[in-house]
Amino acid sequence: MTQESLTQDAFTLIHRFEPGAAARPLLLLHGTGGNEHDLLPLGRIVAPGAALLSPRGAVSENGMPRFFRRLAEGVFDEADLRRRTADLAAFVGAARARYGIGAPLALGFSNGANIAAALLMLHPEVLAGAVLIRPMVPLAEPPAADLAGKPVLMLSGAMDPIVPAENASRLAQQLTAAGAAVTHRILPVGHGLSQADVSLATDWVRGLALPDAA
Ligand code: MLT
Repeated sequence: MTQESLTQDAFTLIHRFEPGAAARPLLLLHGTGGNEHDLLPLGRIVAPGAALLSPRGAVSENGMPRFFRRLAEGVFDEADLRRRTADLAAFVGAARARYGIGAPLALGFSNGANIAAALLMLHPEVLAGAVLIRPMVPLAEPPAADLAGKPVLMLSGAMDPIVPAENASRLAQQLTAAGAAVTHRILPVGHGLSQADVSLATDWVRGLALPDAA
């Protein structure tokens, strides 16, 4: 287990890396106020034995780490989002070279799910696929990404006070239109992580037949 920063040009992200099977690592992306430690236990359950790469969001909102700035709850600073998404793409590239791992599957919760969705749309080559827990549409006008066949699991909450149902469906439509193989499940829960999320994510990841990592 290491905890350090990877520096590539001017770019640095604090993170933890847990070695494991290198072919299909998980990229763990925490929610607002979380950190690089939060999702490691979830990652170990969802993909036992996989290498885990877990960065801390570089933005601080009143001391709460996030992956990009927002103007209000659910209203994103898209210029910052695009910049931070490019930084995250560079971080993943540097981490792959440093740790000798393949293209990761993202496992993101809330703010982390939102930057994972932005990563899929803006830098589709970076991720092998994604589990998005309580995501929302990250970009008002997404580019025409080619996500041909990339597997994406979206887990939404029917009683989520932060993500309107229409918004989650729109994201599922955008990803599907870009060619992703989207499974969208709507659970009878709110915004918080539930046991059902853990079970569904674990079963879905176990059932993936991903090609060998490049
Ligand atoms: C966001 O800002 O990414 C969403 O509002 C979710 C969250 O509360 O982090």
